[in-house]
This record gives sequence, C-alpha cells and structure tokens, in this order.
Amino acid sequence: MSGRARVCSVAELPAIGGVRRVDVEGEPMAIVATDDGLFAIDDTCSHDEVSLSDGEVEGTTIECWLHGSKFDVRTGEALCLPAKRSVAVFDITIEGDGVYVSTTPVTASLTKMESNA
Ligand code: FES
Repeated sequence: MSGRARVCSVAELPAIGGVRRVDVEGEPMAIVATDDGLFAIDDTCSHDEVSLSDGEVEGTTIECWLHGSKFDVRTGEALCLPAKRSVAVFDITIEGDGVYVSTTPVTASLTKMESNA
C-alpha cells in the first residue's frame, strides 16, 4: 500500500546520533537522527534478519551490531561487507507534532557492490 504513516511524535524522536525503531504497517523501520537531518530506513539488515536500530550511528552511517556492515542512512547503500545489498530508504517529514514516513521506499535496493558482482 502506498501513502504515508505517522510513526511517532516529535518529542519521541531520538537525539542526534540516536535511532528509534518503529513499526509501519507491521514492518520495522529505523528512524535515524543525524547532523544532516532525519532519515528512515528499513530496520532489517540486508545481510541477515537482525535489527539495525540495535546498531551504532556515526555521522550518516549506521553499523549493524552483528557483523559490522555499515549502511549510509541517506541512500541505504551498504558500505562494506558482509552486507552486499542496500536497505530501503523512506521519505520522512514532520508535520505539526507528528513524524510521518512514506510507506513505499524512495530508493531501489541495489548497490554498487551488487552491480560489480
Ligand atoms: S546481520 Fe548485519 S552485517 Fe550480518
């Protein structure tokens, strides 16, 4: 289903350098707060079925806690192995007191690593 969904209030957003897991139509999404703004990505690591929101945010990247792959939260791109596929990125907007995300991704889930494989 396309559209958008309210995921939390502005007051519930993480501080810069933080991440919050939310559910959007039953699917987990990670809301990441960076110096470059807020980003919404698929919460499931593309390497295995673990939650990226349990990882560490550094600048505009998030590192998977299990095997250390890093993803660019602006594009979803997998920046290092073992993950080879990007994660989906969603639009995120603030409207009044609400934080909204698109329910369909705004990026394709292919990476340079895949196209070079
Ligand atoms: S599960 Fe995320 S890098 Fe392996």
